[in-house]
Amino acid sequence: MELCLYTPGLGYYSAGQRKFGAGGDFVTAPEITPLFGGCLAHSACAVLESIGGGDILEFGAGSGQLAIDLLGELQGSGCLPGRYLILERSAELRQRQQQALQEQLPQLLDRVSWIDGLPDAGFRGIMLANEVLDAMAVERFQWDGRAISLFHVCCEDDAFQWHQQQSLDEAATAAESLARRCQLPAGYISELNVALPAWLRSVAARLEQGLLLLIDYGYPRHEYYHPQHSSGTLLCHYRQRVHDDPFLWPGLQDITAHVDFTAVAEAALAADLEVSGYTTQAFFLLDCGLDDLLQQGGPTDSTHYMQLAQQAKTLILPGEMGERFKCIGLTRGLTTAVPGFRMQDDRHRL
Ligand SMILES: C[S@@+](CC[C@H](N)C(=O)[O-])C[C@H]1O[C@@H](n2cnc3c(N)ncnc32)[C@H](O)[C@@H]1O
Repeated sequence: MELCLYTPGLGYYSAGQRKFGAGGDFVTAPEITPLFGGCLAHSACAVLESIGGGDILEFGAGSGQLAIDLLGELQGSGCLPGRYLILERSAELRQRQQQALQEQLPQLLDRVSWIDGLPDAGFRGIMLANEVLDAMAVERFQWDGRAISLFHVCCEDDAFQWHQQQSLDEAATAAESLARRCQLPAGYISELNVALPAWLRSVAARLEQGLLLLIDYGYPRHEYYHPQHSSGTLLCHYRQRVHDDPFLWPGLQDITAHVDFTAVAEAALAADLEVSGYTTQAFFLLDCGLDDLLQQGGPTDSTHYMQLAQQAKTLILPGEMGERFKCIGLTRGLTTAVPGFRMQDDRHRL
């Protein structure tokens, strides 16, 4: 998964084809509508004001659309961050983001910088990642009721094949402890984001005051590792089609896994962050004033209004992105509630 997604020049995110949007392989919320960035701006503005100003750091900015919408909206409400930092693994996407910002928001380009690694400790403001956790390479495992075997990939007869192996390494130990805790049935196959705790620990170490907002598709642990999901959540996206064979078109298709939000919350607590909110994308956006933004977009131009209303539905309807996508707010040193998490609090489900 790591090689298929990130090998320089060859990996899915590192090579040149179009990935996001209607002409790509999948569509993310910022690609659907500026309403998404508009809502995030509402939350970001409240947090920035509550701490007397600060910066924004976006992880994995994709096409740059969220940065454009968010900054545009924050400028309109007189609430711009000091700096907008982007940490992007893919050099090709970084270039695309620079070009998009240059074309669509030239007046704010001097506030935006691309960084190669995490900022120094002492960051104040908002860190955010939309659909980044699902793009981190996971370990796939099978539990036979007594032991874990990890799935490796080998090449036989000129084709990729799975090769299962028992081991005692960190990933297998973590998977075994998970299997026992969740009482997984024998034969159960799933995956585990082994890199998540270390990633969150290093991000948290930089956050002096503010919010780390993570948005992605996923479940609390008891739903993720549910008997119904007995073959895991590893999925591939290729030209708007979803399938489960990661050996097809290596480097040309996206490979992803759902996020275990309980694991995110545990890693956050271990890194001394507060879990200030967990809710569905629908409730998050509604609490951030999606209705008001929609009203502002109409009603003088009814065609435009109809388009925006359709886009809003895609973001919030349960059968679309509304319930599949979750938002988790991890904070340090905030004394006021974060907009987005006031309408429905699902932390008890984690
Ligand atoms: C599914 S895309 C989402 C893009 C964008 N956030 C959006 O919503 O359209 C995943 C993005 O995360 C980036 N990425 C993956 N792991 C990352 C990491 N550890 N740090 C920063 N970016 C990362 C990828 O290069 C890609 O830009």
